[in-house]
Amino acid sequence: MKIIALANQKGGVGKTTTTINLATALAAVQKKVLLIDMDPQGNASTGLGIYGRERKKGTYDLLLSDIGFERLTIQTKIPGLELIIASPDLAGAEVELVSVSEREFRLHRALENACSKYDYILIDCPPSLGFLTLNSLVAASDVIVPLQCEFYALEGLSQLLNTIKRIQARLNPSLNLFGIALTMYDKRNALCDQVAQDVRQHFQDYVFETMIPRNVKVSEAPSHGMPVLIYDVKSIGSLAYMRLAREILKKDGGWKNVAIVNDE
Ligand SMILES: Nc1ncnc2c1ncn2[C@@H]1O[C@H](COP(=O)(O)OP(=O)(O)O)[C@@H](O)[C@H]1O
Ligand SMILES: [Mg+2]
Repeated sequence: MKIIALANQKGGVGKTTTTINLATALAAVQKKVLLIDMDPQGNASTGLGIYGRERKKGTYDLLLSDIGFERLTIQTKIPGLELIIASPDLAGAEVELVSVSEREFRLHRALENACSKYDYILIDCPPSLGFLTLNSLVAASDVIVPLQCEFYALEGLSQLLNTIKRIQARLNPSLNLFGIALTMYDKRNALCDQVAQDVRQHFQDYVFETMIPRNVKVSEAPSHGMPVLIYDVKSIGSLAYMRLAREILKKDGGWKNVAIVNDE
């Protein structure tokens, strides 16, 4: 059982896309998966086809009320994948958390009984290092950092890694940097390639072998309320996300018993 936070304080780097598609790929191999939408923008919720009017109780209540997680999860259209949605009031939680007791541990406590129900809990973090991300990293066993292959990619990464180190030192000693996932990779773009090489040189084994290519199907899928893995399973984006899921399962020792697709 792993709780994986997908975090990067930069916006638009592929956190939500990666969370949704990893969750779908893991559910596809019979893992029980819960996705927690921690971003007040609720992109993971809409990306899974759960729109505004259906979004009542969710992560806000998980953090700031006594309602148990089991009353907040909803079944998505994908078998094996449940979701806790982000409603707009989650934006206020960032401020409200400041004055509650054990403010860094709210999510951790809320998920104490959830571990036995799921194989993976994936948390889609907001683009900031505030209390919502802090709660996610304190609750998590692992963190995956989606990194867009662009010139400014490394800017801010050291701040994120320092935050992770501080959390390991003070709040969650077992937090593990699972890996860095390179996203929106475009092999025809020399700069993109250079950034990918630099990141690999710096972070070596921490960087997943699989790179997620820039792919129009990936960007179209959310407007249809579905992961690209459902929208177009044969697209290069889908294949890449399946490969990434396989790497994760392999690192986790769970790959031996399952076969997603043979795309080699
Ligand atoms: N591999 C990809 N190819 C093309 N577009 C992508 C890809 N990954 C993400 N996008 C698009 O880039 C934008 C930002 O991605 P998103 O996952 O929402 O980032 P974040 O959650 O980090 O803000 C979205 O419009 C998304 O559809
Ligand atoms: Mg997002």
